[in-house]
Amino acid sequence: MQATQHAEPRLESADESAGESAHSTAAHGTDGTDPDAQYDFMVVSNRLPVDRCSPDEPGCEDGWRRSPGGLVTALAPMMAKTDGAWVGWHGAPDEHLQPFSHGGIDLVPVQLSTHDIELFYEGFSNATLWPLYHDVIAPPEFHRKWWDSYRKVNRRFADAVIHHAAAGATVWVQDYQLQLVPKMLREARPDLKIGFFNHIPFPPPEIFAQLPWRRAIIDGLLGADLVGFQRSSDAGNFMRSARRFLGASVKQQQVHVKGSDGQTTHIARAQAFPISIDVKQISELAQKPEIIERAQQIRRDLGNPKTILLGVDRLDYTKGIRHRLKAYEELLADGKVTVEGATLIQVASPSRERVEQYRLLREEVEGTVGHINGTYDTMQNTAVRYLHHSYPIEEMVALYLAADVMLVTALRDGMNLVAKEYVTARTKNDGALVLSEFAGAADQLKQALLMNPHDIDGLKDTIMRAVDMQPAEAARRMRAMRKQILDHDVDLWSSDFLNALKEKVVRDDS
Ligand code: G6P
Repeated sequence: MQATQHAEPRLESADESAGESAHSTAAHGTDGTDPDAQYDFMVVSNRLPVDRCSPDEPGCEDGWRRSPGGLVTALAPMMAKTDGAWVGWHGAPDEHLQPFSHGGIDLVPVQLSTHDIELFYEGFSNATLWPLYHDVIAPPEFHRKWWDSYRKVNRRFADAVIHHAAAGATVWVQDYQLQLVPKMLREARPDLKIGFFNHIPFPPPEIFAQLPWRRAIIDGLLGADLVGFQRSSDAGNFMRSARRFLGASVKQQQVHVKGSDGQTTHIARAQAFPISIDVKQISELAQKPEIIERAQQIRRDLGNPKTILLGVDRLDYTKGIRHRLKAYEELLADGKVTVEGATLIQVASPSRERVEQYRLLREEVEGTVGHINGTYDTMQNTAVRYLHHSYPIEEMVALYLAADVMLVTALRDGMNLVAKEYVTARTKNDGALVLSEFAGAADQLKQALLMNPHDIDGLKDTIMRAVDMQPAEAARRMRAMRKQILDHDVDLWSSDFLNALKEKVVRDDS
């Protein structure tokens, strides 16, 4: 999000706000936002587009920075162009904020206590659902207390929408943290048009079956008129689960959802809408002289190696960072790449740091980087330049321009917008993208060098193909990938979804 406007929201401590409704006595927040405003269009996601930060952190301006992850990357540009409101958590525990406006978007903050963060966010969302939905790469944990908290917090988000949605409003609920919200909205406000989009994969029923609350989750999602997924296989998995666990009769990706009286209340549809990026923003940044200069500076700072390889990920076990480092270490050991000739830059932005699996991953990644650099670095050259930070988009684009090879080695990923950003930034049609076939982006970027990151030898060979790729082949591939993304930017994604949500569904009661 290109947030330039910084509001000063009114703060209350959790104690002050206890026992008060979320919309307390003030007629307006200090920035003039009406705390009881009603909206015709609302987006609801666990995170707001801005996140609380302390002034010493990079990218922190007036106590706010852009929230992490692809969801915000995709939705912020669309929201900046609408009159709607965005409901979500602002990233700080126990802080009660009035609705406020930031970067031209009306934001309705939902409060999460320290306890909610532990049980709902770190627990059920990120230690149960996240690993379950990502091929159980890490073992999911199932705890009834976490589930209770998930239900309660979903109710809080639904209540915020119910308070602010105008009659007949369109509400677009986002992602796995809020799967119960569609049904809660349907029950309280049958006048609403309800969409849901899952940014992460939806697992096959054989894996989803493990979830003790699988029926309630499917039931929650079927409260929506339209459930969107990244890939058609995700939509198919969801419908197979609806059939298997709820006995739903599914016809052509449609379910006739029945109320307690057995009558059909609405038709829920499931469909793929592959998400994309703000192409204009990235292309414009990639052509700015100061960003091109910054990219050259990065190369110079690294000692002008022949090849710069780049990985950019949240520090998450789904991203295949360990596999990437293993392959790279072996290439150094084999002498296929040398520390003088190549540098791997790995940006690993901090993520979910209090969740055990993420702590372990960080230790392992940092241990491996230390080992590789200890073995191969010279006084002048470094094998892996590891950066545990998040950076503003301008710096990211400079990195994309500096990198000859982009490595996206996810073990499972809903989409992976970094891959799409890299391609978009390569306005000269050079550079090579190594892309995991387990990332949703592989369905669209077919001219990338696709590979299976579990196959370390295959990954090594693919990295070397990218390093050695001739300019003509690189240009042919890059041109085709750029065309795909330029023709399918994030505006098209959101308008496709919202148009499909508006469509009148023909009822087939046969
Ligand atoms: C992914 C998810 C988002 C999430 C983001 C960052 O992109 O799909 O829902 O917000 O990661 O993760 P975090 O836990 O920091 O919100």
